[in-house]
Amino acid sequence: MLVAPSILSADFGKLDNEIDAICKAGCDLVHVDVMDGHFVPNMTIGPVIVDAVAKVATKPLDIHIMVENNNFFIDLLAPFKPEYLSFHYESENHHNRIIQKLRNLEIKPSIAINPATNIDVLEYMIEDLDMVLLMSVNPGFGGQKFIPNVLEKAKKLKEMIERKNPNCLIEVDGGISDKNINELKQAGVDVVVAGSYVFKNDYKTAIESLKV
Ligand code: DX5
Ligand code: ZN
Repeated sequence: MLVAPSILSADFGKLDNEIDAICKAGCDLVHVDVMDGHFVPNMTIGPVIVDAVAKVATKPLDIHIMVENNNFFIDLLAPFKPEYLSFHYESENHHNRIIQKLRNLEIKPSIAINPATNIDVLEYMIEDLDMVLLMSVNPGFGGQKFIPNVLEKAKKLKEMIERKNPNCLIEVDGGISDKNINELKQAGVDVVVAGSYVFKNDYKTAIESLKV
């Protein structure tokens, strides 16, 4: 299992120390949540902070945008060269256009799916994706309760991936801890995002407990 701590739960007063600490504690990716106050009822960080994060991080960035205007935010964030960028299925009308834009920028494209959205919508896009991000909470805030229907969705998605694009990863985001990590592994999940669980515990112990 790859582990991507969400810096939404970090102490932003000492962000450089926090990023350095999770990288040294053995995380695989640094998950960065960008929200616009429109697609989700919260605002987090923009390009100024992502720039600061990118300068300190020694692990690749995994940016998750929860915004209405994907095109605009991708232009703002592309200079920080994330490894993956996830945009929401629910906020976009022209998915293929955004996927192609990310490819042209040499960023691995990923689509994020809300808890209530059926994964069948990916049937004709899965071949073009490097990752799918299944939300296990409604996006907007850290520290929410895990919604278990994601386990069934991950299993169905795994079948689709095996059929159509075996290299595509499954990432799950929201409410993840040592309590549900084994079920996620069994469901075929490759990457977990964990915010409050990592930042409220000893970083190294928490990250290691998720590497099942
Ligand atoms: C929620 C964000 C998540 C969040 C996860 O909208 O996408 O990445 O920070 O936080 P926890 O692990 O606390 O649920
Ligand atoms: Zn996220």
